[in-house]
Amino acid sequence: MPDIISVDSLAESMDAICRKIAGGELIAIPTETVYGLAGDATNGIAVAKIFQMKGRPQFNPLICHVSGTEMAEAIGEFSPLATKLAKAFWPGPLTLVLPLNPDYGIHPLVTANLNTVGLRFPKGPAADVIEACDRPLAAPSANRSGKISPTSAGRVAREFPNEQLTIIDAGACSVGLESTVVKVNGDSLKILRPGSITGEMIQSETGIMPESIAGGDGIEAPGMMASHYAPNARLLINQRNCPSGAALLAFGAETDCNRDGAIQTMNLSPGGDLIEAAANLYESLHVLDSAGHEVIAVEPIPTNGLGIAINDRLNRAAAPKPGVDA
Ligand code: TXA
Ligand code: MG
Repeated sequence: MPDIISVDSLAESMDAICRKIAGGELIAIPTETVYGLAGDATNGIAVAKIFQMKGRPQFNPLICHVSGTEMAEAIGEFSPLATKLAKAFWPGPLTLVLPLNPDYGIHPLVTANLNTVGLRFPKGPAADVIEACDRPLAAPSANRSGKISPTSAGRVAREFPNEQLTIIDAGACSVGLESTVVKVNGDSLKILRPGSITGEMIQSETGIMPESIAGGDGIEAPGMMASHYAPNARLLINQRNCPSGAALLAFGAETDCNRDGAIQTMNLSPGGDLIEAAANLYESLHVLDSAGHEVIAVEPIPTNGLGIAINDRLNRAAAPKPGVDA
């Protein structure tokens, strides 16, 4: 059974947590985006355990979490543009894909043997853990591969009920969607995974509008697989008329949508706020999915700003599942 410890007692538990990390064990850490399943990024056994516990079918590269720019600069090569992005958005929900310094000792399983590395300096207690353990942590979302990401400690515990996993509980994640992944290549930027830091925000800091591969074939960022973040229920997106007997994930006020057919309704943001909707997305999907509905209908979400990332996750959650759907 997982062991949930409150962030309030983190200081007293820190030595024990660092001993686990140093021994190649995994812990679940809260971040501002989603909860992560974390292990020492320099220890191949720890990293292999991450893939094994998640049941990841392929060895996709993992994000390497750091406690500050100094650690980041030892692991990746920072161009002036990368430094500008880090200054503007760290700590925060931005992952920078940069050339890897091969001498640091990041295990090749973390980078899938690429010569680049995804680096992220998260906000909050995760950075304290990294600082105390004095090593970078590889941490994908703490869910089984392809399933909905967890935004609370309780969801992590329910995902891994049979594991002796220590989970640090810092309450609900404020952002609720995985970090924006940006590849820095000379003077050009590419968004490999959209998130709460949008192309417009990056442009206003750097003067460069990133190219976006969202909706691409996912070769550059395997996290962009077609079916991902998926509930067990069949997900119908962009529904203005809720089919009869379906659960409904609504957005905004009931004005131009028909909600009469819904047998259970949750609203991502009654006031139509995208930030609130992003923070509520995964938990609402979890709640409706655990109620056992066959179909979850989702109302249209605006496709501007943060809506790009929300729609990206919804599209993947609604995609045919390999081995399940045709
Ligand atoms: O918000 C987040 O980023 C969460 C929390 C726990 O921090 N973490 C997370 O990690 O989502 P992970 O490892 O699942 O995200 C990996 C994403 C994938 O899309 C992967 O393909 C991309 O980052 N990525 C990592 N390293 C890469 C690299 N060297 N080149 C291209 N993509 C990379
Ligand atoms: Mg994930």
